[in-house]
Amino acid sequence: MEMVVDKKETSEELSFAKRLKFSTRTDHDGVDKMVMASKPFDNEANYAKFLTLQHVFHSTVSPLYQHADLQGLFPGLAELPRLSAVELDLKDLGMEPDVDPSSLEKVDDIYEAIGWLYCSEGSNIGAAFLYKETQKLNFDADRGARHLAAHADGRAPHWRKFVAQLDALCLTEEQEALAVKGAVNAFDFYKKALRTTGLSVN
Ligand code: HEM
Repeated sequence: MEMVVDKKETSEELSFAKRLKFSTRTDHDGVDKMVMASKPFDNEANYAKFLTLQHVFHSTVSPLYQHADLQGLFPGLAELPRLSAVELDLKDLGMEPDVDPSSLEKVDDIYEAIGWLYCSEGSNIGAAFLYKETQKLNFDADRGARHLAAHADGRAPHWRKFVAQLDALCLTEEQEALAVKGAVNAFDFYKKALRTTGLSVN
């Protein structure tokens, strides 16, 4: 399911949010393909591994949602993390939400953190499709697929609000480059975590 980037626009003419999308489209599509190849919705055992992967990713990004400076840039950020929803999903499947702290990445640079947040918040858009797939396994917003459910305001309005916050940042070229680096690192981290959760991608 490839992301569509308007080819008429060059990277310089795009808004910051669109530039993030443009610069990470191949990273995204790589992750998308790897996740689908691992057949996360074929059976409960695969889904359990996918939840473990989501848990590692959301455990890594969760501290960023509590970061005071980032909360200043993105009002409402503190209400958005999906870590506790993933933990409840794991419990629904009878698993303990344990995570090896050494498997997590610490993001210190605030501009790189913006890219990580972009990756995490954007993943909610594609999650519409993933959420539908969980129905096959009889999971939903109340059991097993809480973290993939839409935000209370709906996915699109919520995403538009986050995009508007990104576009209002007015970063320097250097800061933007760090944000793009952060987003690429976030996708790379996801791929690395996927390989270690035992999901088969062949
Ligand atoms: C099988 C897994 C996935 C599928 C099928 C999928 C699919 C999609 C789709 C259809 C979109 C909307 C694209 C568009 O508007 O052109 C999207 C957006 C996005 N997804 Fe995924 N996605 C998946 C996994 C992920 C993961 C694991 C992450 C992050 C770790 C992620 C991050 C994003 C981001 C950041 C966007 C926003 C792009 C933008 O508009 O700037 N996706 N995804």
